[in-house]
Amino acid sequence: MAIAEELSALRASTLEAIAQAATSADLEAVRVQVIGKSGTLTGYLRSMGQVPKEERAEVGRAVNEARAEVEEALAARKAELSAAELSAAIDAAAVDVTLPGRAQQMGTRHLINGIIDEVSDIFMGLGYKVVEGSEIETDYYNFTALNAPADHPSRSMQDTFYVRDLSGDTSRVRGESDVLLRTQTSGVQVHVMEDWDLPIYMIAPGKVYRRDVADPSHLPQFHQIEGLVVDRGITFGDLKGTLDYVCKQLFGPERKTRFRAHYFPFTEPSAEVDVSCAVCHGEGCRMCKGTGWLEILGCGMVDPNVLSMSSIDPEEYSGFAFGMGVERIACLKYDVPDLRMLLEGDMRFLRQF
Ligand code: DAH
Repeated sequence: MAIAEELSALRASTLEAIAQAATSADLEAVRVQVIGKSGTLTGYLRSMGQVPKEERAEVGRAVNEARAEVEEALAARKAELSAAELSAAIDAAAVDVTLPGRAQQMGTRHLINGIIDEVSDIFMGLGYKVVEGSEIETDYYNFTALNAPADHPSRSMQDTFYVRDLSGDTSRVRGESDVLLRTQTSGVQVHVMEDWDLPIYMIAPGKVYRRDVADPSHLPQFHQIEGLVVDRGITFGDLKGTLDYVCKQLFGPERKTRFRAHYFPFTEPSAEVDVSCAVCHGEGCRMCKGTGWLEILGCGMVDPNVLSMSSIDPEEYSGFAFGMGVERIACLKYDVPDLRMLLEGDMRFLRQF
């Protein structure tokens, strides 16, 4: 019987194709080709009408048997392939837990923040509060309320960046805007005198800005620590005693301090403070340019005018103020040869502190 032979050939070639299928997709292609809707084996069932009546039962049985056998082989091969594909996927996704990990690069506290923390600790030990001022100030707080009115010559020493009004009002540009990046932390003194109850014992560390080009000893952005005391009966002796104590805490008990008369618009009298050079102990060397001393801060008794402008009665209260450059302290403590190194973010440099 021709059909029986055809069926047996189809069965054999299908079973062979199933055995050869290397992936689930190949196997699915074989299924569709043979027992899918228009598959070859399905075609025999469809054309059963053309088979002579007396052969129909036998042919039908043979087709069904072939179909059952093919389905069984498909299912068995499918199980094999799925298992293999799953284990291949697991292998591909496997993590080698014995491989050494990539070390996380940990940062360090920046030298400048380290010094701010150190100085803050010293002052907190003396009962001072630590305040954070704002880097954007008005002309009034940065200059006017500190005894430097618009025509004061001391303003020209501290040119800064003026903040333009972004609301579209282009008239508020440099020279006409009264909003600026502060040139000194001294403006915080005024805010504190206006806002706090007396007495005042505070320091205010923070960033300041000047229109300077960066070179080994200048940065357009650096840090200061401002200090202010206002109380009854404060004298220049309190100022000297406090700052001498702080310098010894910061640089070592063997260091001496020296107060040199100076000028600042908001203090009277004013002084600059030097500490004895650590390298030559006062004899004179390259570090201290032969003087034996290194300048570290400016200070003075708060000018009565400044107290009055902030509604504090200078007959009843007096005070002292000081301002130190943090980068300067960093240079003196650690002999940093170029201030720009503090901004470059080179971890080989920064990790040392
Ligand atoms: N603001 C001054 C400057 O930037 C530093 C300074 C000097 C601050 C004397 C003070 C002070 O509070 O009393 O040069």
